[in-house]
Amino acid sequence: MKKLILALFVAGLVLAAGCTDYEPIPTGDQEDKVIVGFSMGTLMEDRWIRDRDIFLAKAKQEGIEVIVNNANRDSNLQYKQVMEMINQGIDVLVIAPNDCYSEVRCVKAAKDRGIPVISYDRLVMNADVDVYISFDHFKVGKLMAQELIKKAPEGGYLLVSGPKSDYNTELIYQGVMSVLESNIESGKISLLGETWVEGWTRETAYQYVSDQLEMYGEDIKGIICGNDSLAWGVIDALSEAQMAEQVVVSGQDADLVACQRIVTGKQTMTTYKPIQELVEKTVKVCVDLVNGKDIMYETTIFDGTYDVPYIYIDVVPVTRENIDETVIKDGFHLYEDVYLNGK
Ligand code: BGC
Repeated sequence: MKKLILALFVAGLVLAAGCTDYEPIPTGDQEDKVIVGFSMGTLMEDRWIRDRDIFLAKAKQEGIEVIVNNANRDSNLQYKQVMEMINQGIDVLVIAPNDCYSEVRCVKAAKDRGIPVISYDRLVMNADVDVYISFDHFKVGKLMAQELIKKAPEGGYLLVSGPKSDYNTELIYQGVMSVLESNIESGKISLLGETWVEGWTRETAYQYVSDQLEMYGEDIKGIICGNDSLAWGVIDALSEAQMAEQVVVSGQDADLVACQRIVTGKQTMTTYKPIQELVEKTVKVCVDLVNGKDIMYETTIFDGTYDVPYIYIDVVPVTRENIDETVIKDGFHLYEDVYLNGK
């Protein structure tokens, strides 16, 4: 709540502050069609396919041309692809970095040529992007811990986070800890182990939890997983140890398979991030940037060197109890798909 009040206060101060230094690019006739480069660090999780597809559809509606590339978790390839986009004449670069720290060179290359840059979902660090548009990842972490603690208020916990090269992992970790710390201090919860999974890979999460299960067995009551892919690997390890429904498990993204695990009781919660909203806001900002308009933003975020404008989108915890009213009601998934394997 405190954070929200602060954010609203900051919002009041900075709204309409504007941040563009770019000359408007005339739009209108075909030759001047706005071209956006959408550089994606990965397409591995389902959500990124959705981001790409909605982005393409929304841009088409707005008469914007999009060059989209997937770097397949390779930072060198992402840099190469961004350089190609720049040479193809993009007006704006939208980048979801593979590695939040090394992609600063992509931003620099674009900015050196006067091309504005939007950091999408993941923040490019130390890069002074024009605007960061994302979900509230601190809240993602907070919700994960809150929901699990409601259902398993005492006992041993494991923390299976994404890689440190993804700054969202750090924000989620801070959110998780903001809830866990007092429970650890009071002795209700003990943190048995924590790990950071390179590349967000399911197999690594599976292996880590299999090893922890051998050490701690039934002392493990909760596992906070950084996303639904990690939760998948973790739940496979729990299932093998016949502990799947005994241990509370979190995730994020509301992947279809995670929603199916939620309604069958294997996964406790996921975090729903409305991608449609993320894309719509991004496409609007692309247009505003090329038109030289001021950008409205809620707050700023420190990228390690600079405070950058931050447009953030709220997130929603999804459990068995509210899945119908959240992801299904929103049309994110169909009822029959979520309940494919029963209730
Ligand atoms: C995103 C998550 C995603 C993860 C792995 C994070 O930066 O915020 O939605 O699951 O990367 O791609």
